Parts: sequence; structure tokens; C-alpha cells
Amino acid sequence: MQIDVIPHTEQQKKEPKLALRSPNAEDGADIWQLIRSCGPLDDNSMYCNLLQCDHFAETCVVAEIDSNIVGWISAYILPSDPETLFVWQVAVAEKARGMGVAKKMLLDLVSRQCCDDVTRLKTTITKKNDASWALFRAFADRMDAPLEHDAHFIRDDHFGGNHDTEYMVTVGAFGARESAAA
Ligand SMILES: CC(C)(COP(=O)(O)OP(=O)(O)OC[C@H]1O[C@@H](n2cnc3c(N)ncnc32)[C@H](O)[C@@H]1OP(=O)(O)O)[C@@H](O)C(=O)NCCC(=O)NCCS
Repeated sequence: MQIDVIPHTEQQKKEPKLALRSPNAEDGADIWQLIRSCGPLDDNSMYCNLLQCDHFAETCVVAEIDSNIVGWISAYILPSDPETLFVWQVAVAEKARGMGVAKKMLLDLVSRQCCDDVTRLKTTITKKNDASWALFRAFADRMDAPLEHDAHFIRDDHFGGNHDTEYMVTVGAFGARESAAA
């Protein structure tokens, strides 16, 4: 299935339309449900999702197709480093996967005014999450940015043995691959 943000032709007008926006507090419960349906993501409390929608709306993304929420990114700019956007969770409903929704949400996010000073993105990924690695590699390619990773939150040291090690992935500086090649 093809999706486009803005329909250009009669054919495209009939296809599902993707809309990206910042969340509001009324989205909290739907987002909580979406995340619960998107293993292997950790569940959050609904209150946590409400705070993201309310206090961090500028750096979070809701994706809708025909007014139904199908995608979500929670993120924030690091308090100690205004050049770094940290992406907490990315979730796309199963029925909307493989259509570029997650990549479009990331690109939308870094193009927002609140990210004017952002030069790199960080996130954490577990070793086995192939879809997530593929997403951030594709994003790095699109941003002409190098991608590096290091074990960060370790199974036994940080999770008491209850969660796979999370690798800190850094994509950036944006455009650095282009300037290195020039
Ligand atoms: C990871 C996830 C968000 C990807 O969403 P999506 O909308 O299907 O991803 P996109 O269609 O934007 O794909 C982005 C890139 O990743 C690749 N990709 C996506 N899913 C993939 C998979 N399962 N295996 C391999 N590659 C994959 C796409 O081919 C695309 O690469 P390209 O741009 O070079 O063609 C989605 O699978 C999901 O919600 N998974 C469960 C929750 C999760 O693990 N979230 C990530 C934790 S941060």
C-alpha cells in the first residue's frame, strides 16, 4: 500500500492519508494502548504517556491514518545538551508497518523549530530488535550522518538481569558524512 502526506493526484486522494502532529493530553490513553500492542516495547504507566503528551508535546509525534492513531514517537532534548535529541520509544501499529511511517515521523521531528539546535539523535536499542536497527540506519542514511553504538544500560548492572542490554545509538552529526566526503 502507498501512503503520502499530501495527495497530488486523484489516485492518491483515494489512498490512506498520513497526518503527523504533536500530541495533546487527550491522546494519552490511545498512545498507551498502541505501545502495549507493540512488543517488544516496555509498557509505561498511562500517567507517563500523559506527561509525555502534555509536557513533551513539542518533541513527540503522533501519526494518524484517516484520523486513527497508528504511530508514536516519544522524545526529548537532553536537559544537559541542547544539541541532542533523545528518542525514547517508536511505535507503529502492525497494520501500518513497512510503509515508511516511522521514518517519516523521525524526519518530521528533526525538522521542527524546537530542533533547530539539534545536531544529533540518540536512542537505545536491544541487540535483537532488527526493525529498530533498520529504522535508525535508514534515518542515518537519510541524514548523511554516521551511526555509532555502545552498550549503555547493561542487563546485570542496570536491569537486575531482567531486561536485555540496551545499546546507546548515536546518529550524528547530521550532514557529517556529506562534509567528510566533500
Ligand atoms: C520499528 C518500527 C517502529 C518500524 O516502523 P515502520 O513504520 O514499519 O518502519 P519504516 O516503514 O519507516 O521503515 C524504516 C526502515 O526500516 C526498515 N525496516 C522496517 N521494519 C523492518 C524489519 N522488520 N526488518 C528489516 N527492516 C525493516 C525499512 O525497510 C526501512 O528502510 P528503508 O528506508 O531503507 O527502506 C515498527 O516495526 C514497530 O513499531 N516495532 C515494534 C516496536 C519497536 O520495536 N520499536 C522500536 C524501538 S525504538
